[in-house]
Amino acid sequence: MQPGPSERHLYNGLTRLEPTLPATAYREADAYRLDLEAIWYRSWLMICREADLVEPLAFRTFRIGSQEIVVLRDETGSLRAFHNTCRHRGAQLCQESAGRLKARLLTCPYHAWCYSLRGDLVRVPSKSLPEGFDKADYPLYRVALSVWRGFVFFNLAQDPSGEAESSFDPASGDLANWPLETLVTGHRLSKVMNWKIFWENFNECLNCPGVHKDLSRLVPINGRGLMARHDDPEWARHADNDAPEFCGGLRAGAETWSRDGHVHGPVFAGLTAAERAAGQTYATALPSMFIVGHVDYVRTVRLGPEQTELTAEWLFTPEALVQTDIDNIVAFGTQVLEEDAAICEINQKGLRSIRHEAGVLMPEEYDLRRFHEWVRERHAAFQA
Ligand code: FES
Repeated sequence: MQPGPSERHLYNGLTRLEPTLPATAYREADAYRLDLEAIWYRSWLMICREADLVEPLAFRTFRIGSQEIVVLRDETGSLRAFHNTCRHRGAQLCQESAGRLKARLLTCPYHAWCYSLRGDLVRVPSKSLPEGFDKADYPLYRVALSVWRGFVFFNLAQDPSGEAESSFDPASGDLANWPLETLVTGHRLSKVMNWKIFWENFNECLNCPGVHKDLSRLVPINGRGLMARHDDPEWARHADNDAPEFCGGLRAGAETWSRDGHVHGPVFAGLTAAERAAGQTYATALPSMFIVGHVDYVRTVRLGPEQTELTAEWLFTPEALVQTDIDNIVAFGTQVLEEDAAICEINQKGLRSIRHEAGVLMPEEYDLRRFHEWVRERHAAFQA
């Protein structure tokens, strides 16, 4: 049975010929610079968990493109972020990537200008000061911070709009029933990837039958090269069939993303029956992160603009971390990420061909088109 006219609009797939982004967008220095200026220097970016900066005077430094930022917790418990640059002659303030300040001051290693942890210049050790010099005119360059449910975001725009929450795609999943604030990191993994190729790979499952054989067994609709029921042009023929290969979710009997599909510790108490049945709920915040909630743990992936900054973390309640067989969980997610990294690297290598100007999208790659539109809109707004 073919879908009727009123049902055709429910089909998710692309029906018109759509090009990919030009290949130069993945390999040229100018394109990288445009990505930085149009996207990375003006978006809310997830950088760490609040728990990574628990103690007063704890600090971490982060690099986004050419920009280095120091994030610290001041003596009153407030988180603050500054460009890691002295206002005198621009020396780098903190050299370490993480640690605890020895005093309630940031002291420049070059000529010892001192800043309070609020970023105010409080001491200039010169013998005399030029006429008209006012320390109040030389605070550290402040960076906007926003904490969303235990995740710390910053935004390098001087006057950013909204808060971190505004960066989440409203069309993606709702994680209100997961206790994100209280989770602790049980495992961390870093991989090398190009950020645009990562998001393209994230947004389609045409690759799943070939690249992710075990995942395709765990999530049967992925084994059909699809992400959702309405990705199938013939979906109406199976509209009454609630088997996971047609409606999504985990295979019968499976409970979570783990090597054997089972949970090996406590599960989150507040989930709905639908959230438990789905087995995976994704929330995305372009360009820097996605979170997926499973019944027993949460996994986050954080990206930077360079090829070296993808970090995945497996988050658990403190009790579950003691009781859970983490290896079973981590091994499966790691396998999927390794498979993604390998295929993304193959994608990046192929894109270097000087003959390759742009590819073409297949119907199932409709979410790639959304991602490409998101990139194009930001480039256009920046260049307008
Ligand atoms: S550059 Fe920092 S005190 Fe001179």
